[in-house]
Amino acid sequence: MKHLIDIKDLTVEEIDELIKVAKDIMQFPDNYTEKCKHKKLATLFFEPSTRTRLSFETAMLDLGGNVIGFSEASSSSASKGESVSDTIRIVGGYADIIAMRHPKEGAPLVASLKSTVPIINAGDGGHNHPTQTLTDLLTISCEKNRLDNLTIGLCGDLKFGRTVHSLITAMVRYKNIKFVLISPDELKIPEYIKENILEKNNIEYIETNSLEEHIGELDILYMTRVQKERFFNEEDYVRLKDYYILDKNKLEKAREDLSILHPLPRVNEISTEVDDDPRACYFKQARNGKFIRMALILKLLNIGGNK
Ligand code: CP
Repeated sequence: MKHLIDIKDLTVEEIDELIKVAKDIMQFPDNYTEKCKHKKLATLFFEPSTRTRLSFETAMLDLGGNVIGFSEASSSSASKGESVSDTIRIVGGYADIIAMRHPKEGAPLVASLKSTVPIINAGDGGHNHPTQTLTDLLTISCEKNRLDNLTIGLCGDLKFGRTVHSLITAMVRYKNIKFVLISPDELKIPEYIKENILEKNNIEYIETNSLEEHIGELDILYMTRVQKERFFNEEDYVRLKDYYILDKNKLEKAREDLSILHPLPRVNEISTEVDDDPRACYFKQARNGKFIRMALILKLLNIGGNK
């Protein structure tokens, strides 16, 4: 049985296959409507979500399966003190596969050690968000028709932004990837990502405070929200939350073929005036999340694609 806790749980070949299946689902959705008949997905969300939970649930429904679950810890027996391990043992008796989000780093890994069904990490604290990364990779593949030879700007909260950590971990396995890490000093990428992932894999990267100086070099600009929920004091959050605001003016220096991604939700970091720019891909990206999650559910349940 396979779980998806960290994006490294998938080989590059497996990721490429998931992207291929997701693209086939986009093109021929009718071929997939009964693939998960009589199967159940449980979505256990101990932390808020719009895209991840609803796209997982829609993915299972579009595959002909059913969905159970909860969207906040307070409506589960976690509020009475039940452990994650016990919750997983119980839900594994009701569902065939579980997607789980938890504020504590490592909680989905703990869950996977006790689970009798596949566990998907749908985000654990400031740590990882592998299915967002699959969504990002599908989007980059659709927009650029490649996952190598890219200069990727990651901008905003690189310290707490789990989507950034997972994306870097995934992208270092492709050829000729360069990163421009754009953040305020207080929100720089953690040292363990630099040492264990970027430097260990000899990846070219620079760290900078300035989006304007580097926007013209980028193939991909991945904007992120400052993660209010991970700050220890409100004052620091208020000081940093509007550090970067991407607007039409800043985009004047960007390339015509730039792709702008954002895992969403957005707060102020992308002005709404950018939404109609052909380079803005973030709403397409959110939609892509459903297709790649359909492909992932099929893979983890060992249900063949359409070939
Ligand atoms: N991108 C993402 O994880 O969004 P949600 O928090 O709405 O699921």
